[in-house]
Amino acid sequence: MKYYNIANGPQHVSAIVQGCMRMPALSGADAAKVIRTAFDCGINFFDHATCYGENGAAETRFAEAFPLTGLQRSDIFIQSKCGICPERQEFDWTKENILASADDSLRRLNTDYLDTLLLHRPDLLFDPAEVAEAFDALEKAGKVRFFGVSNLMPMQIELLKKYVKQPLVINQVQLSLEQSQLIDQPLYMNNKATDMSVSRDGCALDFCRLHDITVQAWSPLQFGMFGGTFIDNPDFPELNKALGELAERENVSKSAIAIAWILRHPANMQAIIGTMNPAHIKDICAAAEVQLSHHDWYALYLASGKFLP
Ligand SMILES: NC(=O)c1ccc[n+]([C@@H]2O[C@H](COP(=O)([O-])OP(=O)(O)OC[C@H]3O[C@@H](n4cnc5c(N)ncnc54)[C@H](OP(=O)(O)O)[C@@H]3O)[C@@H](O)[C@H]2O)c1
Repeated sequence: MKYYNIANGPQHVSAIVQGCMRMPALSGADAAKVIRTAFDCGINFFDHATCYGENGAAETRFAEAFPLTGLQRSDIFIQSKCGICPERQEFDWTKENILASADDSLRRLNTDYLDTLLLHRPDLLFDPAEVAEAFDALEKAGKVRFFGVSNLMPMQIELLKKYVKQPLVINQVQLSLEQSQLIDQPLYMNNKATDMSVSRDGCALDFCRLHDITVQAWSPLQFGMFGGTFIDNPDFPELNKALGELAERENVSKSAIAIAWILRHPANMQAIIGTMNPAHIKDICAAAEVQLSHHDWYALYLASGKFLP
């Protein structure tokens, strides 16, 4: 496994993070296998959100499973996210909701503190002064160690930074070989011939690098928003051929190569994987040992359907 020290944030965190969004479907015993397998493969960082599963079921299942793993709370980093309220059909970054959500997560996860708390998706009505008050209260109470955001544009981060005194250490965004706008746009800059030149994220990746904000790539094996995986998917023949060739050369799985493609980027991004299959977790973690060359990286990028201008 590769480990990073997040600037102004948690230290020695694994480059691959185990996402827990799909955990509600598992029994407690199966969830324990997922957590323990991930840990044994070097993963020490687990990603949650208040909205994963009905009434926070992912967090509840995780807490139910954790004692079965033989691990201690201090062995791992736990991250949760707040602000998405599916039951109300709104996004909510009010102080009241941030505080209540953090307390709900702590209770469900059966822990005293979150290592990181992220604002999940922008509340269009957010008041940065209220967010700042909520973060101060959570920090003062020792309930949250570090703060960050998810799916946020640079200008919204700047606006928050004007009020929030804690460093925003993470921006969790969607990135995979098939969902790579974050990387694409600067390549096609000012090109009228393709809508790849349209900036949809305000150059979030470079902004985060400039401001020492660690990017976490969510759904690293998916196409579309939640289209399914492109691994072994006949709709992506070129990409699977390129992944297959490198997988054979490196003696790892295609999924490991797809994750290695993210880890090869010099931004030191964390990849948040979502599989609930222990064998897939083991396959993927081999990615940390794979050294893709500059040429390999571009070959995969082009095989995913992009072209060089
Ligand atoms: N911030 C946000 O807005 C946001 C949004 C979505 C997700 N997330 C986070 O990102 C995490 C990962 O998302 P994700 O689950 O969509 O990620 P993913 O790792 O891209 O996809 C995992 C899915 O692909 C399937 N899959 C099929 N073949 C596979 C193979 N060979 N290897 C591995 N997986 C394979 C898995 O099924 P099996 O279980 O059968 O392997 C699982 O259903 C979530 O758990 C959550 O923590 C964040």
